[in-house]
Amino acid sequence: MTRTIRLVHRWLAPVFIVLMVAVLSTQGSAVGQTLQRVQQLLILGFALSGAVMFVQPYWVKWRRGQRRAADGDPRPTAGR
Ligand code: HEM
Repeated sequence: MTRTIRLVHRWLAPVFIVLMVAVLSTQGSAVGQTLQRVQQLLILGFALSGAVMFVQPYWVKWRRGQRRAADGDPRPTAGR
């Protein structure tokens, strides 16, 4: 799942760059405004997928600690 999110984030990057050039070159026109809206949505996509990627390693570590505690192993970072 995180792999897919990372792939989406990765491939949004070139789309974003092309869109940025398009937005800059159509600034002030109606098309420019529409493209800017699309860009804002893309940034939202970046922010959400980026947040998932950022949190994921901490989440995995926390869950591992929880599982170990449930198994009776008191070391939260055992086996690192
Ligand atoms: C709110 C905006 C954004 C957030 C929160 C965000 C966050 C992140 C995070 C957490 C990673 C993973 C870093 C790691 O591997 O430890 C990442 C990777 C990346 N980000 Fe963003 N990012 C944002 C916007 C952008 C934008 C605007 C671009 C390019 C136009 C971009 C391009 C990339 C690329 C190419 C990667 C590497 C993905 C890969 O593994 O192939 N990001 N970003």
